Amino acid sequence: MKKIIVTKNLPFEIEKSFKNYNLVYNKSSEPLSRDKLQKELFDADGIISMLSDKIDATMLENAKNLKVVANYAVGFNNIDVDYCSKKKIVVCNTPHVLTEATAELGFALMISAARRIVEADKFVRQGKFKGWEPTLFLGDGLQNKTLGIYGFGKIGQTLANFARNFKMNIIYNSRSRKRHEENLIDAQYVTFEHLLDKSDFLVVTAPLNTSTKHQFTENEFKRMKNSSVFINLGRGEIIKESDLAEALENGEIAYAGLDVYEFEPSVNKKLLNMDNVILLPHIGSATVTARKEMAGLCVQSVKEVLEKNNLPWNAVNKNFIVDK
Ligand code: DGY
Repeated sequence: MKKIIVTKNLPFEIEKSFKNYNLVYNKSSEPLSRDKLQKELFDADGIISMLSDKIDATMLENAKNLKVVANYAVGFNNIDVDYCSKKKIVVCNTPHVLTEATAELGFALMISAARRIVEADKFVRQGKFKGWEPTLFLGDGLQNKTLGIYGFGKIGQTLANFARNFKMNIIYNSRSRKRHEENLIDAQYVTFEHLLDKSDFLVVTAPLNTSTKHQFTENEFKRMKNSSVFINLGRGEIIKESDLAEALENGEIAYAGLDVYEFEPSVNKKLLNMDNVILLPHIGSATVTARKEMAGLCVQSVKEVLEKNNLPWNAVNKNFIVDK
């Protein structure tokens, strides 16, 4: 019987899907400790991991049977993919099924920041609403503003499409220029410096890797417009969170919305006490539909590898695994 580990409780029929497997399913709210996970991996054939599980070389060095790691996320910076490729372990992620959900959350953050929704809600709950005022919670609109997108994958492109309907001007910067997509959406490719200079809303949708880590620090925030709104949907380590807090405090940028954190789940203490930042607990893909489809895709990926010896379409290291 093949052994499969699922490191967290998923909104899916996991037991039914793996009834012919030796299933180690962590349904408790506590994460599997690193030690326990490493022990379980010793004779496992596959694992459905979470973005909070660090699947590095140490974790995998004794995993002698492991053939597939299906990560329950589109981002896979928590996995040492090079090491997996060397050991011929297929690594899969969950692209496409969470695109709309994540782009919607980005847009929700943009509107919430622009119209000060969270601050205004707090104001009412605190009993401070004493009547309509012409200048109460004045914010800004989206129309005719420039949306700058850093990272122009599926999530960035979907966000751009939403913005088009709000009559925003769209610019983007990413590792590679995407001419076909930019023509379809009517977005303009710009340099990173231009993105900083011109964006009224700057939204990060890029993945974390060695070239995006700490891409936004003190100098970048200083260069942005004082009136700008900064949103991060990608990974926390793309920004230096303490520099963001300083920039918000000093008025170098006006507002921020974060779904991800540099030292997740810790959040910079300064940010916790600021009104001009919206802080969400990494819920980009948290719709019932997206989370079910992500689980379905992980199950399917594991079975493709373990039962059919196929490389799934969503394998991120398919070009690096030889002799498959
Ligand atoms: C992902 O899938 O990488 C997201 O961050 C999850 O919300």
